[in-house]
Amino acid sequence: MDYAFEHHKIYIGRHVRELPTPSLIINKSIIAQNINKLHDDVSRLGISFRPHLKTLKTLEITRLMLGNGLYRKVVCSTIPEIVGSLPLVKEGLLDEAIFGMPVYKSVIPRLTALRKEIKIDLLVDSCDQLALLESSGATWDVFIKIDVGARRAGLATNSPRLKELLQAVEASQSANLKGIYCHANHSYGCRTEESVVEMLQHEVAEVAAAASFVSTTRPLIVSIGATPTAHVIDRLNEKLPPNVTLELHAGNFPTNDLQQVSTGVISINHQAIRVCADVVSVYPERNEALINAGVIVLAREASEYPGHGKVVDQQHWDVIRVSQEHGILGCTKQNVDEKVGNLFKVGEKVFLWCQHSCITAAAFYAYFVVDENDIVIGTWIPWKGW
Ligand SMILES: Cc1ncc(COP(=O)(O)O)c(C=O)c1O
Repeated sequence: MDYAFEHHKIYIGRHVRELPTPSLIINKSIIAQNINKLHDDVSRLGISFRPHLKTLKTLEITRLMLGNGLYRKVVCSTIPEIVGSLPLVKEGLLDEAIFGMPVYKSVIPRLTALRKEIKIDLLVDSCDQLALLESSGATWDVFIKIDVGARRAGLATNSPRLKELLQAVEASQSANLKGIYCHANHSYGCRTEESVVEMLQHEVAEVAAAASFVSTTRPLIVSIGATPTAHVIDRLNEKLPPNVTLELHAGNFPTNDLQQVSTGVISINHQAIRVCADVVSVYPERNEALINAGVIVLAREASEYPGHGKVVDQQHWDVIRVSQEHGILGCTKQNVDEKVGNLFKVGEKVFLWCQHSCITAAAFYAYFVVDENDIVIGTWIPWKGW
């Protein structure tokens, strides 16, 4: 079993340099700042907000993202995220969850059983999924998932299948049309604030176009977002018809990571998550060092920042190669003459920013939450599995 999972409590009150490695460190005050900023933006705009639970998957972060009941709905990528957040339903802080992947056959019995405990809404992007719902014997509120350019899940607004699906939902006994949902995950590729703002306006225009295909003027929710476009939500200037309510969803925003910094809309200091590793060996002959955080911890995700992770206090040094448990630190800045032996010592700790916090967090069974002085003030245990 994972060492940090078994022993996390004994580290409360200790400095991060005493942590077992690799470990995941969360800065509580940066998390709070990031969440407060988004809550302030959506409340100024008067739109509603639905956090996605996929990044840190814990009760503590869910409570913070919901503003302790100010916002009352979530989107979940897995069943454990729904089950894990049920204590908040019991506390009267949470009302409903969207299952965040278009519904598939084997999950329907599990979702049906959970409906006794929380209202569950679904995403659909195919008439075949409606046929699956018919065999569930229940009626579900559904959002039509549209594709606004990411080419992951969803139907493009110019697809004839979108109009067919809308008609099929309107005619279905098993599905009530609640809204339109898009997720701009291709906004992670933006590199300037202007391009992120353009993508935000595009998302709104696309959900509005899909909503305009609905034959009645029934109330509809249009749910937009991804963390890059959520970061610029204060630039929103789109008007929607009176029957359409705008909702923002986002998941990564409390932690951020190098991918978010690369979009140009937040700074490097908005990152709330670091990985702590040991310097295992130093190789002056190749000007590299070995650490005990490899691909399982850091992933092979890319951004404007080179490699697989950035050393926090040595701006020219990154994790340049990874295998399962091994990471190699190297100097990535040309014409910089820094000697590995002067910067990294065997037995010391190294702290890294990661490319994609959702994937890095998934490698850990316990997170260490720290204050401004890097003292562990708490531990969070994530919901694992599918
Ligand atoms: C369907 C869906 N909605 C919302 C999100 C949240 O996106 P982000 O983590 O960029 O905020 C995701 C993330 O992958 C998603 O898959």
